[in-house]
Amino acid sequence: MKTLKMSPSYVKNERLLSWVSSMEELCKPDLVYWCDGSDEEYDTICRSLVASGTFIALNPEKRPNSFLSRSDPSDVARVEDRTFICSKDKADAGPTNNWVEPNEMRGILNKIFAGCMRGRTMYIIPFSMGPIGSPFSYIGMEITDSAYVVANMRIMTRMGRKVIEALGENGEFVPCMHSVGMPLEPGQKDVAWPCNKQTKYIVHFPETREIWSYGSGYGGNALLGKKCFALRIASVIARDQGWLAEHMLILGLESPSHEKTYVAAAFPSACGKTNFAMLIPPESFEGWKVTTVGDDIAWVRPGKDGQMRAINPESGFFGVAPGTSEKSNPNAMATIRANTIFTNCALTPDGDIWWEGMTKNPPEGLIDWQGRPWDPASGKPAAHPNARFTAPIKQCPSIDSAWDSHEGVPIKAFIFGGRRSTVYPLVYQSFNWIYGVYLAATLGSETTAAATSAIGLVRRDPFAMLPFCGYNMASYFDYWLHVGLYNPNPPLIFGVNWFRKDADGNFIWPGFGENIRVLKWIVDRANHKANAIESPIGWMPRYEDLNWEGLDFPKERFIELMSVDRELWENEILSHEELFVKLYERLPKELIFVRQLLLSGLWRAPEHWKSDTIDSTIN
Ligand code: OXD
Ligand code: MN
Repeated sequence: MKTLKMSPSYVKNERLLSWVSSMEELCKPDLVYWCDGSDEEYDTICRSLVASGTFIALNPEKRPNSFLSRSDPSDVARVEDRTFICSKDKADAGPTNNWVEPNEMRGILNKIFAGCMRGRTMYIIPFSMGPIGSPFSYIGMEITDSAYVVANMRIMTRMGRKVIEALGENGEFVPCMHSVGMPLEPGQKDVAWPCNKQTKYIVHFPETREIWSYGSGYGGNALLGKKCFALRIASVIARDQGWLAEHMLILGLESPSHEKTYVAAAFPSACGKTNFAMLIPPESFEGWKVTTVGDDIAWVRPGKDGQMRAINPESGFFGVAPGTSEKSNPNAMATIRANTIFTNCALTPDGDIWWEGMTKNPPEGLIDWQGRPWDPASGKPAAHPNARFTAPIKQCPSIDSAWDSHEGVPIKAFIFGGRRSTVYPLVYQSFNWIYGVYLAATLGSETTAAATSAIGLVRRDPFAMLPFCGYNMASYFDYWLHVGLYNPNPPLIFGVNWFRKDADGNFIWPGFGENIRVLKWIVDRANHKANAIESPIGWMPRYEDLNWEGLDFPKERFIELMSVDRELWENEILSHEELFVKLYERLPKELIFVRQLLLSGLWRAPEHWKSDTIDSTIN
């Protein structure tokens, strides 16, 4: 690999050149390297990562051109308690974000970044979120001392020389500064996963649109195009410019007569977003197809045709591996067949990867995610619960033909869903946009492993954006109200819950491919083709409004799944209040009125409202 101290001649942007030289001055790397994004460069980086022990090359027959990486056991997930939104005014970050006064934070950063790349190479990664040249897209520049980050960014973004060329002399970019925070003394041997065990900072300056990340090499902490840029900084840019940057998958549902309708769906981390985005319909839905535009982030803006249109700003999947299998997500399994980076998965004796849920029985002789022989009797998982795959979106068999479109795809519905074992029905449609904003604002989910927080509690996660909104959450609700009311043709808003359980603790709904039955009803509603009845919390399908062909799902079970229990909902609404009180200062007052209307609706309806009108009169 070339080791350039000088910038390549094609870099003509003065702001970029002077930022890079000031960062070089600050961080004192041994070498500076400008990434060109070529295949040869990717191969060279991967080879060097194998040589340094950060990558293990997997068996080329089983998993061609793929690698396994094991992180430091202390660096396995996003660190929300170390994530900061440093707006000038604390109130602009709002009560749900950590805040430090910007000058104070700059003082901290200048101290910890000083000399932080000694003994290492400083890589400059030009990247575009969105297709290069699309009116939706934005350019970022990540500086990092992690070759692992370079390799992942090559998959996750459009990256390299072509981005610098698109930037030109005067183009704008978001500076994204990253260091693992582990300088090397002369002669000091490096470790396979450098990071800083004591100090981590993931910092955003929304007014100046800058990102600084220190101490972690993992996922959203380090691949700065994703959560830091495409959500936290982009949500601020979007608010200022009249569009939306959302934590949403984008999919198309294509009918046998080739009519396609696109929806975007927000679910909190690790609720199966990737599975939903790549859904394979059951055999009884012959001719129906789900096509994938994205699995994590949507940038949505009003199009010239008056429709909201969306792009996926990423070009790869950084998916949660455990639970992914030929049964849960065959498309994901096909996507990761080659050219994939695996992180914190288990290793099989024949040089392939494995994780919990991939097969019913684990293969013998596994090496766990920390590189130790795995003892199935230990009770510990072989793969880390937040183990990931990084794979190019182009390899996905269900890829949508317009995934790379410069104009985006028209969005007809926004879907919001959490992991809730009680209270919430399988699906419902909000009465109107304001109700929809309420529904999304009060989204909650039982917690999982994507973030380092307690597992199994209901965490209120408004719009699935709690960890990702770059400004005051209440102002964000207000902005959403504005967007719907000022756009002529906003998408309809729906709630879904695949995870409701019966009294015995079993999931009521089979989920996975069967979710197409719900998706079809949603799409039909958006196209004014499906019936619904009014429940106390929104419009709902009756049993006869869904297509049941090929699934034996008794009507009584459906009614149980759709029931609305007043007492449970009262408690739920009280817990919404907790969020509203926290956000009170800037909370749009409409949401308080919606809450009152919901309560009135619940009190007028039977105590146990059921989606079957005849049953509900019996109650
Ligand atoms: C993710 C997340 O990694 O939401 O996508 O945590
Ligand atoms: Mn996500």
